[in-house]
Amino acid sequence: MTSIADPPIDLRETARRAQIRIAHSDVPIPRDRRRDVPRPPGPSGLAVLRGFIAGGEAPWFMVELERDYPTLAHMRLLGDHVYTLTSPEAIVDVFIGHGRETMKGRGLQGTKAVLGNGLLTSEGEVHLRNRRLVQPAFHRDRIAAYARDMVDLTLAHEASWSEGQALDMQSDMSALTLTIVGRTLFGSDLAGDAHEIGESLAGLLEGMGRYLVLGPQVLRVPLPSRKRALESFARIDRIVERVIAQHRQRGDTGDMLSMLIAAEEDGAAFDDAQVRDEAMTLILAGHETTAMTLTWTWMLLSQNPAVAEWLHEELDATLAGRNPGMDDMAALPRTRAVVAEAIRLYPPVWIQGRRTLADVEVDGWLIPEGAITLISQFAMHRSPRWWTSSLTFMPQRWIDADGAFSEDAPGQPRGAWFPFGWGNRRCIGEQFAWTEATLVLATLAQRWRPELIPGSDVQPMPAVTLRTKSGMPMVLRRR
Ligand code: HEM
Repeated sequence: MTSIADPPIDLRETARRAQIRIAHSDVPIPRDRRRDVPRPPGPSGLAVLRGFIAGGEAPWFMVELERDYPTLAHMRLLGDHVYTLTSPEAIVDVFIGHGRETMKGRGLQGTKAVLGNGLLTSEGEVHLRNRRLVQPAFHRDRIAAYARDMVDLTLAHEASWSEGQALDMQSDMSALTLTIVGRTLFGSDLAGDAHEIGESLAGLLEGMGRYLVLGPQVLRVPLPSRKRALESFARIDRIVERVIAQHRQRGDTGDMLSMLIAAEEDGAAFDDAQVRDEAMTLILAGHETTAMTLTWTWMLLSQNPAVAEWLHEELDATLAGRNPGMDDMAALPRTRAVVAEAIRLYPPVWIQGRRTLADVEVDGWLIPEGAITLISQFAMHRSPRWWTSSLTFMPQRWIDADGAFSEDAPGQPRGAWFPFGWGNRRCIGEQFAWTEATLVLATLAQRWRPELIPGSDVQPMPAVTLRTKSGMPMVLRRR
């Protein structure tokens, strides 16, 4: 288990331990040319302070940067040189073209204290090996099996809904997706602990939210949230360790944890510590993101009744009251388009960072080794440069000429749409997430039309994911 009091990050040492080979860019920048490569302009220190340190404004700050600096901007943040990339070409160039010359940024490095050497936080060769070992758990056949659990658990959850009931949709969807990831990951072993895990995760996410923007130094400040995060972490850790021990005794139970335990390459398997890190990563990465997708989807449907009607037409025609399954995915293009459009406007992962391990030249500008590059899904997905009626909830944009759902249908350039990240660090749970969000929405929206409580002030809050500041107050209405 990794200690919460990690030392400050030493870039070279971290790269060495993670076995990263620091490759050089295809076209190395000669030392004597460096002075000629201009540093891009950027916002004033005051603007950075307002936009980033004041946390809640960070997504809007990224929108402003995208508008005012159409390729990249430079700023100083807590001692780092930070470059925000705001053109699709620059984003593709750095995150894919130079992907292997970068490592995770300040925030995700910080979360190593909780997620250890799991997929999200490991680097280099260690990451590639982990990725190969975890990949079979996300094979199409496995997802088809998980899809049955997804629908069954949604139906069981639906039994707690009643006409006129007021609820916080954010907590409600988090409880549902936690149960789903708990079942698919751990089988039935987690059932009795789901409530405790849910509460602990809320405490953990609150502490980790600060990490992501400000870095691991923050956890050394004795804030009340630090104590809460540490306690939550210890509680989840105990449960996960117990479940791993039970699984080792019982053998393959067909869930993801069984696959992690059985995974091996060249005779080497995951040890308990690595299984624990992967399991912890999958619980965190796999439940909060989809919960937020569904939460924002319900809000947008409530605010756009004509779109809700368009969705209901499809559900009534295709499912006619029966429960959806994996085989229906292609026949539910509108449902999937609604999910995609919610992810466009409220991307659960709203910002991503990388630290450069070599000098990188972007469009004539130099991003020096050791700098942080930031890209924001929130800013790029909302930019009027790439999306028509960019702030309008218009799921129809995702339907192609043949009536099918297509991620290319809106005509945006590569680099303006990246909800699941890039390259070999792309989300391993992407198909799991599409399947889950589409099937949960199809199951519930057949019979329900939740309404946002009038007068509710719903504001996005950038934490680890894009949450809301004070929940999503809704009333349940039967269709
Ligand atoms: C709508 C839902 C989701 C969104 C928007 C999302 C988004 C992302 C993004 C942007 C990354 C890349 C992070 C980076 O490069 O810094 C990522 C990585 C990851 N996601 Fe997801 N994710 C979602 C659902 C899931 C689910 C359901 C799971 C697992 C069940 C999952 C597991 C992971 C893991 C393990 C990684 C690390 C992959 C690696 O580095 O090899 N995610 N996700």
